Amino acid sequence: MITLTQLSKIYKTEEVQTTALNQVDLRIKEGEFIAIMGPSGCGKSTLLNIIGLLDQASSGSYQFMNTETTQLSNKKKSNLRKKNIGFIFQNFNLIDELSVYENIELPLIYNGVSATERKKRVIAIMEKIGIAHRLKHYPQQLSGGQQQRVAVARALVNNPHLILADEPTGNLDSSNGNEVMNLLAELHKEGATIAMVTHSSYDAGFASRIVNMKDGEIFHEKNADQRKDIFTAMP
Ligand SMILES: Nc1ncnc2c1ncn2[C@@H]1O[C@H](COP(=O)(O)OP(=O)(O)OP(=O)(O)O)[C@@H](O)[C@H]1O
Ligand SMILES: [Mg+2]
Repeated sequence: MITLTQLSKIYKTEEVQTTALNQVDLRIKEGEFIAIMGPSGCGKSTLLNIIGLLDQASSGSYQFMNTETTQLSNKKKSNLRKKNIGFIFQNFNLIDELSVYENIELPLIYNGVSATERKKRVIAIMEKIGIAHRLKHYPQQLSGGQQQRVAVARALVNNPHLILADEPTGNLDSSNGNEVMNLLAELHKEGATIAMVTHSSYDAGFASRIVNMKDGEIFHEKNADQRKDIFTAMP
């Protein structure tokens, strides 16, 4: 589904130049759940934002669903993103002025889905995620875990091909974090393709592959079989 080849990202300001990604090669297959790990500043969010077509590489190639994206216009990229990619962020990024229902409905409005179809899909996803009884609440009236579940629902309502999550449990206590991770694991079981940035090796244990980064480079990958030690060490 995703092929990055020799992908680099250099941020330039007047005084300094930062290489956030240095010639990264990465493939993500349909149905994979990868965890991206590494120290702060190593380029994880930059990588995820480029994969999510929110940001643009400085050089190299990025193929998403058989389309080379580096030459696409912003409008084409934004259409590709809206149709195919769902995002989950550390700080939930819900809109405080909109109810739970309206927050989840938003991506469907962006995609021009009809009102009756929107209603059907929002209700279905809220039931699936277990937040149907909160549809008239506003984000500030929910616990962190509930807010993140709403954000997961919003990411999923459009049936995206790819789910991207940047530290989805970073602002949650362990029980709420666990709930969100179980939800992602369930989605993966149902066939979703997920790329998740995390600082937690416990959360990374839910993934089928771990990609380790350092200084803008991928230096070591492990698949599930090679890290039984992590699984057995889990509580
Ligand atoms: N808009 C920007 N302008 C300049 N430099 C940036 C910008 N965004 C990120 N960087 C730099 O690029 C590097 C990678 O940043 P990135 O946010 O990808 O790190 P990260 O691995 O997600 O870190 P964290 O774990 O703290 O979230 C950092 O050195 C950062 O300072
Ligand atoms: Mg980050």
